[in-house]
Amino acid sequence: MADKQATLTYNDKTIDVPVLEGSVGPEVLDIRKLYGQTGAFTYDPGYKSTGSCESALTYIDGDEGVLLHRGYPIGQLAEQSSFMEVSYLLLNGELPSKDELDDFTYTISRHTMLHEQLSTFYRGFRRDAHPMAIMCGVVGALSAFYHDSTDISDPEQRKIASHRLVAKMPTIAAMAYKYSVGQPFLYPDNSLSYTGNFLRMTFGVPAEPYEVVPAVEKAMDRIFILHADHEQNASTSTVRLAGSSGANPFACIAAGIACLWGPAHGGANEAALNMLREIGTPDKIPHYIERAKDKNDPFRLMGFGHRVYKNYDPRATVMQKTVREVFDALKVNDPLFETALRLEELALQDDYFIEKKLFPNVDFYSGVILSAIGFPTTMFTALFALARTVGWVAQWNEMISDPAQVIGRPRQLYTGPTQRDYVPVGQR
Ligand code: SDX
Repeated sequence: MADKQATLTYNDKTIDVPVLEGSVGPEVLDIRKLYGQTGAFTYDPGYKSTGSCESALTYIDGDEGVLLHRGYPIGQLAEQSSFMEVSYLLLNGELPSKDELDDFTYTISRHTMLHEQLSTFYRGFRRDAHPMAIMCGVVGALSAFYHDSTDISDPEQRKIASHRLVAKMPTIAAMAYKYSVGQPFLYPDNSLSYTGNFLRMTFGVPAEPYEVVPAVEKAMDRIFILHADHEQNASTSTVRLAGSSGANPFACIAAGIACLWGPAHGGANEAALNMLREIGTPDKIPHYIERAKDKNDPFRLMGFGHRVYKNYDPRATVMQKTVREVFDALKVNDPLFETALRLEELALQDDYFIEKKLFPNVDFYSGVILSAIGFPTTMFTALFALARTVGWVAQWNEMISDPAQVIGRPRQLYTGPTQRDYVPVGQR
């Protein structure tokens, strides 16, 4: 029984609504019995005031720009941890010992290969297919090849499916890139790190050895950490909803990939770099800021704004710093970075953005880095999906293991026609 109650009066009836308190963050009003007690639904399109579940994975304080994974600040994890270690943390709840991390990394590395038949699956796509279209198709098809880890009632099968998904996403993403440029697929090389393996499968060729650049490997690994999980965002909520019906884990992650692709969500990193390219030079920025403010113009500053962050996205801070590291390591310089910095500076001085609390988000600078490393913009969201897979599977596991879990089935405010009789076509 909750210690605290809220009171709701509706149609001359007053009910007590339990108030539940988490370890940190807003309390929630438990309205699970509301419809039974009042005959009314709540109404919250976009779920701006709705908590869909209980979770111990990730905490965000949007006003303070705080992001914690199992209690650890994203800035500390990005600076001191690795994507494999953060993956272990998200999946298991605690930072691993060295042996635990070695075991986990070994297990993941032993699942990096894809069933050989899947490589022919790619051949069904046009060479210019968007990598996210390929990711949706190939990940959804995994259940046809790894049927032995689709029984979600079996914790061992859930664990194997989770490891397979985390391990195979780099291979699938790299193959999508190779297919788009007409180069042969490279098999994983498990003597490399998770991220080094991905870089080699993406940029290596059979004709010569591929040297992983440590600074690029570190930057890429950090980018994966920054994208690993983010509370109940649209794609994670999609994975949870698909999983609530009992769908197999591969189908659930394919649903998450599809949702992430949207430009309002994970597709924003591709859109943000395309926007910077369209703006071109800093002198054009004021024109685009005015367009972003114009209600009659659909143009938005991509990589800006966030449903939760009404302060600087802590991931964008790390991302901006990483740009310089990659530029120095690769001895490159992309003038678009200066344009991005100037755009941020001017936008954050503008009353429209200040009043609406619009700040750069994780997608604003990531494209500049990924482009410097050599990825085409069409691969940016595929990289987001690669990294977010561990968050999706961790959230999916948490949901399946939750004794309170039931199929997600929202209701509605119906505003269509009330009942009426059919009229035969000759009488209309
Ligand atoms: C991600 O949820 C997550 O955690 C997502 C994510 C994750 O890790 O999973 O963090 C990853 O998706 C980051 C967001 C990437 N998307 C973009 O960068 C696309 C551009 N941003 C927006 O479209 C928008 O900011 C959203 C979709 C991110 C958030 O939209 P909300 O919370 O629904 O806010 P809104 O659209 O209601 O905007 C509030 C106001 C509106 O003006 P009014 O109607 O109140 O006058 O701010 C305006 C919007 O028009 N606005 C913008 C803007 N974003 C919001 N105006 C110009 N440029 C923008 N980018």
